[in-house]
Amino acid sequence: MNVHSLMQNHTSIRRFDPRPVEAEKVQAILDCMRLAPSAANRQKWMFYAIESQEKREAIAQATGNTWWAQAPLILAVTCDDCGVMTNGHRSDTVDCSIAMTLGMLCAEDLGLGTCWVASYTEDAVRSVLQLSPEHSVPALLIVGYSAEAPEARPRKPLSEVSARL
Ligand SMILES: Cc1cc2nc3c(=O)[nH]c(=O)nc-3n(C[C@H](O)[C@H](O)[C@H](O)COP(=O)(O)O)c2cc1C
Repeated sequence: MNVHSLMQNHTSIRRFDPRPVEAEKVQAILDCMRLAPSAANRQKWMFYAIESQEKREAIAQATGNTWWAQAPLILAVTCDDCGVMTNGHRSDTVDCSIAMTLGMLCAEDLGLGTCWVASYTEDAVRSVLQLSPEHSVPALLIVGYSAEAPEARPRKPLSEVSARL
């Protein structure tokens, strides 16, 4: 599917079929994340594909989101160098979000459902991944074969959210 169609067809998925995501697909998603641009091309990130039932359940329990463990794959992106850019924004937040967006589009292109989630504390995820406090965890993505077909959720009209100057 082309990128425009992927963006138009996106809906977040929160119910998953238990069948695992094929190893080649996991690899392809991680590789798309690796290709993301980053500030000054620093690439100060690590991508985690959390596939084992034990770790998925640990993440779900530590964060208080039991439905996450139903999905066969949880992706996490972490960063251990939280620089601030000239514009005042943290590069780890921006860089890791770009990488996760590419991973999300790749996963959906491979026929998988995804849900970006932020309802976790970094401490909870760090404890499961055994990361020290200097690692930030800007994004998690819940991934698997969808067991639902939700209606597309509305977006504001372009005229309301854009200006051509
Ligand atoms: C930064 C971010 C954080 C989100 N956090 C959560 C979350 O914690 N739990 C959840 O169920 N969905 C979460 N979502 C999914 C949004 O609720 C969803 O993308 C939005 O309602 C639009 O729906 P759609 O993705 O189906 O188009 C998050 C999405 C983004 C981009």
